[in-house]
Amino acid sequence: MGLYTLLVTLLCTVVLPVLLLLAAVKLWQVLVIRGLDPSCTSPLPPGTMGLPFIGETLQLILQRRKFLRMKRQKYGFIYKTHLFGNPTVRVLGAENVRQILLGEHKLVAVQWPASVRTILGSDTLSNVHGSLHRNKKKAILKAFSRDALEHYIPVIQEEVRCAVTDWMERDVPVLVYPEMKRLMFRIAMRILLGFEPEQIKRDEQELVEAFEEMIKNLFSLPIDVPFSGLYRGLKARNFIHAKIEENIKKKIQDEDNENEPKYKDALQQLIENSRRSDEPLSMQAMKEAATELLFGGHETTASTATSLVMFLGLNPEVIQRIREELEEKEVSSIYLPERTLNMELLEHLKYTGCVLKETLRINPPVPGGFRVALKTFKLNGYQIPKGWNVIYSICDTHDVADIFPNKEEFQPERFMAKSLEDSSRFNYIPFGGGARMCVGKEFAKMLLKIFLVELTQHCNWTLLNGPPTMKTGPTVYPVDNLPTKFSRYTPDLHPSHCMADTFMSSPPIRAGPGPVIDAAELFLLSPCKEPRLGLLFNGEG
Ligand code: HEM
Repeated sequence: MGLYTLLVTLLCTVVLPVLLLLAAVKLWQVLVIRGLDPSCTSPLPPGTMGLPFIGETLQLILQRRKFLRMKRQKYGFIYKTHLFGNPTVRVLGAENVRQILLGEHKLVAVQWPASVRTILGSDTLSNVHGSLHRNKKKAILKAFSRDALEHYIPVIQEEVRCAVTDWMERDVPVLVYPEMKRLMFRIAMRILLGFEPEQIKRDEQELVEAFEEMIKNLFSLPIDVPFSGLYRGLKARNFIHAKIEENIKKKIQDEDNENEPKYKDALQQLIENSRRSDEPLSMQAMKEAATELLFGGHETTASTATSLVMFLGLNPEVIQRIREELEEKEVSSIYLPERTLNMELLEHLKYTGCVLKETLRINPPVPGGFRVALKTFKLNGYQIPKGWNVIYSICDTHDVADIFPNKEEFQPERFMAKSLEDSSRFNYIPFGGGARMCVGKEFAKMLLKIFLVELTQHCNWTLLNGPPTMKTGPTVYPVDNLPTKFSRYTPDLHPSHCMADTFMSSPPIRAGPGPVIDAAELFLLSPCKEPRLGLLFNGEG
């Protein structure tokens, strides 16, 4: 009798629930796979759909890197799964990603969750499609033309320099990631939203809080009732919109009164272009466009700037090479007065650009993009059914690209080769590609290059915890926030800096009015620690 009771208890408490769970999982797989298009003969990609309804979302959230590595090892470059309530195909590798990115509007379309569409606005660039998307993108891109970017340089340089000076003066370690978020938010407020420094001083705290609240609730249930995530997100969004509206009205008024602005920020460019166009943007559309730029441009640049501090902190020889390039291009020479940056100078900083590229290769801040299949199509022999989600992976695509040997190593010089530039299309996609390519790409590259120049020109730094563990959510960041000690960098006249060899063999130089002296004599006459030796060369000293 005892054995019988034990068996029944075991059956009820262990075996039956396990059998029920297995049956539910099987039923779930069958139900989901019913989405298969019978007119297409290709099979679905390999993979599993996880638990009923929640699919494999929890595993992705809790064990992101481990989960994705395991999936890739098991199933390769295309696999099916079930994420965020939808059957999903995850795609990686240059060729597969190429088809997704170039298939925008035809095979696939961007589809953000309903809460994101409601909060950011269904008419924003990332939420519109077809010709509407093309026209909107053209209008926004004007705010990031080469001419427009040129106007932004002094403001960016001023903000970065101010932040860097503050870090060097601190006795306590700087937590790099939150500092970068703050710096990039200030830059975005000034350049993208046209805030004046006094206005920032007054509104910064409230705006930062509203922005964080908006981001926190961006992905929430699409139910707009008091205290729900969507309700809170919309409230925060409305606060940001109200502040932007004040700016728009002031800018329109200034334009009507023909008051020339000190420089043209992105919002100003948007307003001007819209007023000149046949289809001017409404106030709502302008507020949404500005908020979207703030959203797209803030976390991404803060994440990349943090990664730059990290990689350079771990590779001091790279800092040295950047400094050599700055000297070679006469951006910051101990022999010349410090130069004001401009687009042409920045474009000449090839190695510095490669440092940025390599950082975006290893730590792309945006891990991938969301799409929905507009019709059933074939990808690498598998069927992608209509209505399924497709996620293309940027980080995994970089990771599997065989054009990057020693892929774990931080080697900016790999991008110096012209051949790599040609073959890297779709193997290297930190800014996405095709019709949905990042609209702020050129702005971000310029901003981060200025950041690199200012940082290496003025600072030395030490990462207090060594190499950090990186996490993704929503962008890549160090879990310890990267505590770092910054100190002032003063270039010493090391023989290679003094360029003594060059002096000894160079022809005589006329150092301003007066007798001709030769370079060696000039070198010996000058105090070695004098940082402005170049003034003599210019005849200005
Ligand atoms: C290092 C910095 C940045 C990175 C790595 C980055 C990356 C990306 C990627 C990968 C996409 C495409 C997503 C997809 O395919 O679904 C994208 C789109 C977008 N980005 Fe960026 N981004 C950066 C900076 C910026 C900045 C500074 C702005 C604004 C000023 C911005 C605004 C946008 C917008 C509005 C889109 C949507 C474009 C469209 O739908 O046509 N991003 N970005």
